Amino acid sequence: ALVVRHRMRSSGRWAKAMAILREFEDKCGTPIGKLHQVADAMTVEMHAGLASEGGSKLKMLISYVDNLPTGDEKGLFYALDLGGTNFRVLRVLLGGKEDRVVKQEFEEVSIPPYLMTGSSDALFDYIAEALAKFVATEGEGLHPSPGQQRELGFTFSFPVQQTSIASGTLIKWTKGFSIEDTFGQDVVGELTKAMERVGLDMRVAALVNDTIGTLAGGRYYKQDVIAAVILGTGTNAAYVERAQAIPKWHGLLPRSGEMVINMEWGNFRSSHLPLTEYDQALDVESLNPGEQIFEKIISGMYLGEIVRRVLLKMAQEAAFFGVDVPPKLEIPFILRTPHMSAMHHDTSSDLRVVGSKLKDILEVPNTSLKMRKAIVELCDIVATRGARLSAAGILGILKKLGRDTLRDGEKQKSVIALDGGLFEHYTKFRTSMESTLKELLGEEVSESIVIEHSNDGSGIGAALLAASHSQYMEVAEA
Ligand code: GLC
Repeated sequence: ALVVRHRMRSSGRWAKAMAILREFEDKCGTPIGKLHQVADAMTVEMHAGLASEGGSKLKMLISYVDNLPTGDEKGLFYALDLGGTNFRVLRVLLGGKEDRVVKQEFEEVSIPPYLMTGSSDALFDYIAEALAKFVATEGEGLHPSPGQQRELGFTFSFPVQQTSIASGTLIKWTKGFSIEDTFGQDVVGELTKAMERVGLDMRVAALVNDTIGTLAGGRYYKQDVIAAVILGTGTNAAYVERAQAIPKWHGLLPRSGEMVINMEWGNFRSSHLPLTEYDQALDVESLNPGEQIFEKIISGMYLGEIVRRVLLKMAQEAAFFGVDVPPKLEIPFILRTPHMSAMHHDTSSDLRVVGSKLKDILEVPNTSLKMRKAIVELCDIVATRGARLSAAGILGILKKLGRDTLRDGEKQKSVIALDGGLFEHYTKFRTSMESTLKELLGEEVSESIVIEHSNDGSGIGAALLAASHSQYMEVAEA
């Protein structure tokens, strides 16, 4: 009798855990009709954000990039890419149309977590020091010409209100950074002061968001690139807009007639988004409550954390892992998206990767195959929602540009440059995003829309934009 009672109890627990999972799945639903609503809402917000400053949750920031690389850029340029848990420094020798990128060297440096929430000076000093060390390794043929100052393209992947191509103030931090004294500061000024402090003589020629850098890097190789999307720690998009379609722009009309816009789509929000209690709790407990809602259900910083939250609920309310809740499971952000991805892609018949992740990260020694299957399913629900919503976002841009349909029956090829770790390494996310976009566009149109991985476009892109905004114009135009 005892054994039977125990079995009944455990099957009751299993049913409860599955009920939690099913309810979550339900709330995460992204049927095609909903995705169209999301895309339409995105288009509406794009218009509103372009109409007036503060007109929308979408900031639609003016980048001051009104000319994209042509291939003629020449010379030695530096780039600094700051926006996640690592930053990169690059040295690029540009050889013009024929030779393109003659030589490229880079170094990646991780940012100690304490600097992400410390002081502005400490962060920028750390970066300037790493940059100075890198500059000191300049080898044969990779020196600036005598008498010329080194120039840098600064990729700073946070929302910035630009005041020119090479200046702008931080609007807010995102993605786990939170340094109070940087608000409202000119980030180029902050970097320049730090470079002076470490004795590095270098001029910031261009300040760009990673989406802008990726767009520029993509355009350098392919003239059909019209937009760039980052799916990484955070998520965002930039695209080429007609200057005439930006009512809030009161500056001179650029000769090209175009202006690149940094959408900051991570801050998009709409009643059509499938949000759950877990997303709400994640948001409330985050460093930036109420902000970056789209980002919090799509990007790499958060997907693993959503999975953890659902698992925790299953553990607490349905004893999914047994009577005790695994203590590790209560630690925010302990389950990272790369772990989730590894579990999601486990192809072994006994799901041993899932088993080993649970053991290593959550210190849960024993799980049944049935449990591991449920966890893979949970990963799938979270990743699929994010991937499908990012496809809807891309459709929103295409709609805004009138590229979501055949124009006069003609196909207009549109290339979208994609980058970011989530896109690059989370295969199931990527394939789901791509197939959803096809599904949304229909077969005929989707033939002319190309998603292209722009490998580290953002660093090269910043160097290219530094080149086209060099103070040594004869070099740039040579
Ligand atoms: C965050 C930042 C944005 C950046 C994106 C991708 O959303 O606010 O500026 O482009 O992450 O790195």
